[in-house]
Amino acid sequence: MNALELTDVRKVYTMGDDSEVVALDRASLTIGSDEIVALVGPSGSGKTTLCSIAGGILRATEGRVVVADEDISAYSEKELTRFRQRMVGFVFQSVNLVPFLTARENLLVVDELGQRRGKAAQQRADELLEELGLADRAKNLPSQLSGGQRQRVAIGRALMNDPKLVLFDEPTSALDTKLGEQVMDLIRTEMKRRGTAAIVVTHDERILHYCDRSVHITDGVLAA
Ligand SMILES: Nc1ncnc2c1ncn2[C@@H]1O[C@H](COP(=O)(O)OP(=O)(O)OP(=O)(O)O)[C@@H](O)[C@H]1O
Ligand SMILES: [Mg+2]
Repeated sequence: MNALELTDVRKVYTMGDDSEVVALDRASLTIGSDEIVALVGPSGSGKTTLCSIAGGILRATEGRVVVADEDISAYSEKELTRFRQRMVGFVFQSVNLVPFLTARENLLVVDELGQRRGKAAQQRADELLEELGLADRAKNLPSQLSGGQRQRVAIGRALMNDPKLVLFDEPTSALDTKLGEQVMDLIRTEMKRRGTAAIVVTHDERILHYCDRSVHITDGVLAA
């Protein structure tokens, strides 16, 4: 089973003045069930668009999107919402932790929408925090954490529901080189330990070797 199969995916954004931007043009990409793929390309080339479509945040204009054998191409908004909760995890550059919740609560908030309830969710959150070296920071607010620790909370949050595919959109760009490498090392370890697939968007050549292979994108067109 592959984690992701994109076949001839196009994404066209329509602007207010009716002009169109082709953000993805006949993009085809297959990612194996435990593969970590780097997605590399200049600003505006379509990286975030591709991740958003693979994760069911955005719908493709044309083409087929299959995640872990589930064809989501024709899903309604409601089906996509359920799909996202069950199947994918997101880690964004900006981290997006809820500022007034502790590290632990930031993991649990995902689960309010997810599969686990009550005790099971709390146990899961504590396990993840332990694994990510954050057990003693569980009660800290994001503002009381370092940049790398915040990024680790975001990784934990993305893993709460045992996703089949995790989408990392420039997870290290706000970190210095050393911390960036630590976070990539952690991402690789966690993905390989679970046998989970990932796309890692990056501009940084130094983190490519933490990935199994890289795919390049220019003006919405993919090349291996
Ligand atoms: N909501 C939108 N409406 C219209 N155009 C958009 C929208 N989102 C993205 N675009 C355009 O689509 C193209 C691809 O954008 P995307 O955000 O996927 O690029 P990116 O590779 O992630 O860039 P960056 O490295 O700067 O994050 C760009 O030309 C962008 O301006
Ligand atoms: Mg982007």
